[in-house]
Amino acid sequence: MDKEAVLSIKGLNKTLGKKHILHDIDMQCLGGEVFGFLGPNGAGKTTTIKIVVGLLSLDSGEISVCGHDIIKEFEPAMANVGGIVENPEMYKYLTGRENLMQYARMRGITDEKRIAEVVGMVRLSNRINEKVSKYSLGMRQRLGVAQALIHRPRLLILDEPTNGLDPQGIKELRDVLKHIAHEEGVCVVVSSHLMSEMELMCDRVGIISGGKMIGTYSMEQLINQNIGGMAEYVIETDNAEKAVSLIDLPDTTVKQEDGNLIVRVPADAEREIIAAVNAKLVRGGASLYTVHRKDNKKLEDVFITLTENGEGDGQIG
Ligand SMILES: Nc1ncnc2c1ncn2[C@@H]1O[C@H](COP(=O)(O)OP(=O)(O)O)[C@@H](O)[C@H]1O
Ligand SMILES: [Mg+2]
Repeated sequence: MDKEAVLSIKGLNKTLGKKHILHDIDMQCLGGEVFGFLGPNGAGKTTTIKIVVGLLSLDSGEISVCGHDIIKEFEPAMANVGGIVENPEMYKYLTGRENLMQYARMRGITDEKRIAEVVGMVRLSNRINEKVSKYSLGMRQRLGVAQALIHRPRLLILDEPTNGLDPQGIKELRDVLKHIAHEEGVCVVVSSHLMSEMELMCDRVGIISGGKMIGTYSMEQLINQNIGGMAEYVIETDNAEKAVSLIDLPDTTVKQEDGNLIVRVPADAEREIIAAVNAKLVRGGASLYTVHRKDNKKLEDVFITLTENGEGDGQIG
């Protein structure tokens, strides 16, 4: 891996009451990326995050932050963790700045420049002297992010930070978090149950379902993937019926739909096979108007397929 793993989780297990909640969770999150921790409600996201930030103990497994084991080296590990698990506590009758100063004092931070810095990072500079009671939910959430960043952690971990925000608020938070990861080099981990929100925000996502990791994917992998390893092409010809009879290739299925041909081919050799299909059609005397790869599945469908299958093998395509 090019970038350093800021958060490393290996073989994490947790039982709460009599319920085995987390099963051998593995996850590596890097400095400089926004990592989406994605899974349906009840998947185990909050439990995992609480363990990472030191609010819950673990049963077995290893977690390190910047190379520091969170049990054996709790303090240096936690010095690198900034997190929001429940709604950040803010005094509504104080201004944004007063809240941050109060918090900084509690943390023993006296550097006033740092407060201005974090306020800039979350884009609250022009509202920071207003009372928090006047803030929108999105602004409060960003103030919480500023607070979590005051001690310069390398890991910022946020549990469902977009919950309750309107689209504008989500966009502002998204821009802020991307900036913090991409420009400041922080490892930003954001949990969510909504693929649609992760799509624009994250560089990679780790998908969890039923307390098990299904896999970790770059956004590109998810967007370009073909579940079941097949790619679909739509071919427009002058005579679909005739064209169907011309294509006879192994592992390739052909059907007619709205006067077009729908050709399904194995994704690992799709270019070669589609070239062969086209050659057969032309040689057989069919006229080809257009050939295009069918739109990939919507990411939401990909997510649902991956999580419904439950125990994935971590493989796509
Ligand atoms: N204190 C607890 N005792 C027993 N089960 C719990 C406790 N807290 C959470 N759970 C269960 O653990 C599972 C994972 O919960 P959680 O980590 O909150 O999931 P998520 O954040 O992904 O929605 C759920 O089935 C939930 O009901
Ligand atoms: Mg949760």
